[in-house]
Amino acid sequence: MFDRFYAHKEWQKIRRLITYIEEEDVEITTLEKPQLPQVSIAKAFWHRRSERCYSTNKLSAQDISNVLWCADGINTERGYFPILRTAPTASNHQEIDIYVFDERGCYRYLPTTHSLSKMFEGDVREFLCEQDFVLAAPVIICLTADYLKMHRHNRMKRIRYSNMDVGYVSQNIYLYCAAAGLATVACGRINRYVINKLLRIKNGDALLCHPIGYRI
Ligand SMILES: Cc1cc2nc3c(=O)[nH]c(=O)nc-3n(C[C@H](O)[C@H](O)[C@H](O)COP(=O)(O)O)c2cc1C
Repeated sequence: MFDRFYAHKEWQKIRRLITYIEEEDVEITTLEKPQLPQVSIAKAFWHRRSERCYSTNKLSAQDISNVLWCADGINTERGYFPILRTAPTASNHQEIDIYVFDERGCYRYLPTTHSLSKMFEGDVREFLCEQDFVLAAPVIICLTADYLKMHRHNRMKRIRYSNMDVGYVSQNIYLYCAAAGLATVACGRINRYVINKLLRIKNGDALLCHPIGYRI
């Protein structure tokens, strides 16, 4: 009860820092074509680690493109299901959404066009996670579940399966970072109330954050 009261107070403060992009002004940025480093999967497995120190240097456009595609991009449009992704989902509901937070604002990843749609302007990275080490990261990726897409499951299964499905996306992020020399860590200690408010999530949930930056 008190936690919710303070979370709401904090939300009111954050709300003043951001400006949502209206639908008619929507800004779509097409990402670079993914170009992955020629590193063996074995090497990526050996180097996968949770890292909590980041250079404040901005990520290159190529790295942002690559990490999003690896996380949950589209890797085939053939077959029985029209679209399939780099991460599996229970019943192929594809309910995990990806948001990117940087110093300019927040963007939603659109896998079908491999692009970013700007949601709002304003730097809110410091409010997303509960641990201070994330503050240095130039980018924080937030993984959320959209329960509306999980029409074949009841509420309990929506929670259970989306909590499993997000793990595959998280591991894809880990492995790309390991292969590309980037630092990241899965963060379950997140401000879910604030993130759900920021992203206007009503039927879903914020699940995990990944601060990402170059190693120092
Ligand atoms: C679901 C999940 C949530 C996690 N949440 C946090 C977190 O909030 N903060 C943190 O510093 N590390 C977090 N971690 C990272 C773990 O602490 C880390 O994976 C563990 O210490 C093992 O280290 P390794 O990933 O380098 O093998 C999380 C990991 C997972 C899988």
